[in-house]
Amino acid sequence: MGVLAMGGAVGNVLAAANTPAVDGLLDLYQRESNTKFSAQTGSEIWRKEFVSEKGGDIRSCTTCHTSNLSAKGAHVKTKKVIEPLAPSVNGERLVKTKTIKKWLKRNCKWTIGRECSAEEKGHLLTFIQAQ
Ligand code: HEC
Repeated sequence: MGVLAMGGAVGNVLAAANTPAVDGLLDLYQRESNTKFSAQTGSEIWRKEFVSEKGGDIRSCTTCHTSNLSAKGAHVKTKKVIEPLAPSVNGERLVKTKTIKKWLKRNCKWTIGRECSAEEKGHLLTFIQAQ
């Protein structure tokens, strides 16, 4: 009976489900920065705190999205609910190149006070898509 164990085949299914949009962007950021991206570094950037040049308040990606990407967040100013960013629980995430680029640009500017570099975007995207 033991020979019927099928663990190996099942395990393969767990690989992260990359979307073509993410693959394309990671490819681009990779060429621009010549960096090997890591989810660990992405997670550190995600949690890193920056002091706003405007009000002096502390900002990070978690300010609106929280540190649990599988949970809902809320916009810190408008209080509007933000659906989870994790593709594993929200199938609408990371599917459109334009949407990803737009929000990375906007959110980096708000959080860090400047646009993210290709290197930072690559790490962040690698982290988010693994959630
Ligand atoms: C001031 C609040 C706020 C902060 C801080 C913030 N975000 Fe967002 N983010 C939003 C909103 C609002 C949306 C768009 C609404 C939605 O998609 O639910 C969004 C959407 C996104 C998306 C779009 C994903 C998709 O495919 O739908 C990504 C990626 C993202 N944010 C990454 C980040 C990263 C990385 C940081 C930190 C650098 C960050 N966000 C910080 C509010 C924020």
